[in-house]
Amino acid sequence: MNKKISNLIKKKNKSKIVSLTAYSKNMATILDDFCDIILVGDSLGSVLYNYKSTREVNLDVMIEHSKSVRMGIKKSLMVVDMPHNTYRNSKEALRSAKIIILKTKCDAVKLEGGKEIYQIVKTLIKNKIPVMGHVGLLPQSDKSFKFKGKKISERIKILNDAKSLESAGVFSIVLECVETSLAKIVTKKINVPTIGIGSSNNCDGQILVMDDLIGLNPINVRFVKKYTNIRKEIKKAVSNYSKDVKSKKFPLRKHSY
Ligand code: KIV
Repeated sequence: MNKKISNLIKKKNKSKIVSLTAYSKNMATILDDFCDIILVGDSLGSVLYNYKSTREVNLDVMIEHSKSVRMGIKKSLMVVDMPHNTYRNSKEALRSAKIIILKTKCDAVKLEGGKEIYQIVKTLIKNKIPVMGHVGLLPQSDKSFKFKGKKISERIKILNDAKSLESAGVFSIVLECVETSLAKIVTKKINVPTIGIGSSNNCDGQILVMDDLIGLNPINVRFVKKYTNIRKEIKKAVSNYSKDVKSKKFPLRKHSY
């Protein structure tokens, strides 16, 4: 097993796992010092491309961003989301995952779903492709973006899905918008780390979309804590640049050849 992956699994019940998304080299370079996992998430569809959903993201877009991110990572585990409609069956999943790994040199891929993708996940793992699971809210297939785990049937499904993914061999599972007590149960019942987003601190680690964390993506959702308001900083810088250009304070002699 990849050393980074076995080290990550060992963190369960010992220390929290830190994870963030990156879509480009410069961002990945900054995150690499602080993260265990850097995910090239298909959230880039809505965050960068203004797509209505992540369903519109394709393999080419994921690969180009992942190639950029790869250049910025030295130590973190790099995971790439498999886009919608690239893993509808084992054959398609294997072909897509092989292309992703070959072209981006990432360490692992992430797929959304539970029991229904058991065989697909097994096929990838049998072919030495490490897989991260993703249960709870599934942006590639869910119609509504409400948190999961209110209904008993939903709770049973999420727990069974997580167990199924674990038995297929995933090294970790993202729990997206899973109700607090259910996140605790799932985390306790499986032996691989759970990485939460909107799923409480009962998970073994956390992930956020970087653009949300820095306030670059102007959304307000309950599970995002904005650690800075980077839009404000950028506005200030651009406003000063604009003033300097107009008043001829930029460029000075020292900026010129
Ligand atoms: O696409 C993404 O960024 C994700 C994370 C939010 C887990 O899947």
